[in-house]
Amino acid sequence: QLGIYLAGMLEGRTPELTTDLAALENAARKVLSPEALGYIVPSAGSGSTARANLEAFERRRIVPRMLRGVERQRDLSCEVLGTRMPAPVLVAPMGVQTLAHEEGELATVRAAAAVGVPYVHSTAAAHDFEQVAAAGGDAPRWYQLYYPTDRDVCVSFLRRARATGHSVLVVTLDTTLLGWRPADLDRGYLPFLAGTGIANYLSAPSFAGVDNPVTHWAGMFPNPGLSWDDLPFLRDHWDGPIVLKGIMSTEDARLAAEHGMDGIVVSNHGGRQVDGALAALDALPGIAEAVGDRLTVLFDSGVRTGADVVKALALGAKAVLVGRPVLYGLALGGQAGVEHVLRCLLGELDITLALSGYSAPGELGPGALAG
Ligand code: FNR
Repeated sequence: QLGIYLAGMLEGRTPELTTDLAALENAARKVLSPEALGYIVPSAGSGSTARANLEAFERRRIVPRMLRGVERQRDLSCEVLGTRMPAPVLVAPMGVQTLAHEEGELATVRAAAAVGVPYVHSTAAAHDFEQVAAAGGDAPRWYQLYYPTDRDVCVSFLRRARATGHSVLVVTLDTTLLGWRPADLDRGYLPFLAGTGIANYLSAPSFAGVDNPVTHWAGMFPNPGLSWDDLPFLRDHWDGPIVLKGIMSTEDARLAAEHGMDGIVVSNHGGRQVDGALAALDALPGIAEAVGDRLTVLFDSGVRTGADVVKALALGAKAVLVGRPVLYGLALGGQAGVEHVLRCLLGELDITLALSGYSAPGELGPGALAG
C-alpha cells in the first residue's frame, strides 16, 4: 500500500529527518545557501499572506468522532482528472529546484514516482521535459504552464509536455509578473536571470541560435495582458484536462466553469505573489460550494501536515498540492528526503483520518470541522 500505513511509513523514512513536518523548515534553513533560502522560504511583501495561510489552518479544528467502525486497512486512493493516486495529494509545481539540491527536479520526480504521488512539472524547472520524463518513468505527471507571450513557444511546450507523458495541463494565472519579494530584491538575486529555471525554454525550438537566452526569456515571461480570451487557444492545442491555478474568488471560479475548464487550484501561490491576499483556505469553502459540482476543485498554499490535508478536503478540495515542505525534504536529503516528506504526509493523513472516525477521504465534509 505504498507506505501510507504507519509500518510502511517507518520503513521508508529517512531516520535522521524529523517526522514533525512543520519543523522541517528549521532544519532546511541550516543547509540552504542564502540565495536559495531567500528564494524558497520567504514570501511576497511583508509575508502577511503566507502567515495567513498557516494561521487559517491553525484556526480550523477537526472534530474527532468515535466508535464509527473505521476500516482497519484504509484505502486513501482516488482518481483525479483521470489520474490514479494513492492519496489525494500531489507535488506542487515548483521551478528552480536545483537551488535546493543539485539533482533538483530529477530527485523530486523519482521520489514522487517511488511513492506514487503525481508530480507537476513546472515551466520554470531547472531540468526540461525530456529529462524529467526519463527520471520519472511511467509514474503520473502533470504539466504546469506559465503562458508565454510567444505562442510558438507555448505550442512547443504543450506538444513536448504531451509527448513526454504529462496528462493534465495546469495553467498558472497568478504569476504573469513576479511578486514583490524583498528577500530577492535586497540580494539582487533572481534565479532566472542567473540562467536557472529556463531549461524548458532553452530546449524550445525557437530558442535555437538565440544569442542571449536569458534576455530572450525575459521578453516573453511577463504576460500581464493575459485574459479569459487566451484560454480557447489552449483547448485547441491540448487534448487533455485543463486546470486553472491561482483562483481565489468565487466569481473567477464561476468564469472558469463557464469557459469549459476541467478544474481549478484554489491557491495564492503560497503567499508569494499578492501580499495582503486572503488565506487560500478561507477562499476554499465558498468556491467549492459555488462550483464543486461543475469543476474539480484542488487546493494549495499552507499545507504542512496530514491534519492540514484533512481540513482542506473537509472544506471541499478533491486533492491538495504540497509545495515548500517538498523542497525542505529535497534540501535535506535529495530523493530520500522528498520520499520521507511524502510518506510522512500520507502516513499522518491516514492516521488523522482514522482517529477522526473516517475510513476514506471521500467521507469528509464540512461537518468534520468545528464551527
Ligand atoms: C513555487 N510555486 C510555483 N507555482 C507554479 O505554478 N509554478 C512554479 O514554477 C512555481 N515555482 C515555485 C517555486 C518555489 C520555490 C515555491 C516555494 C513555490 C508555487 C507552488 O506551486 C504552490 O502554489 C505553493 O508553493 C503552495 O504553497 P506552500 O505549500 O509552499 O505553502
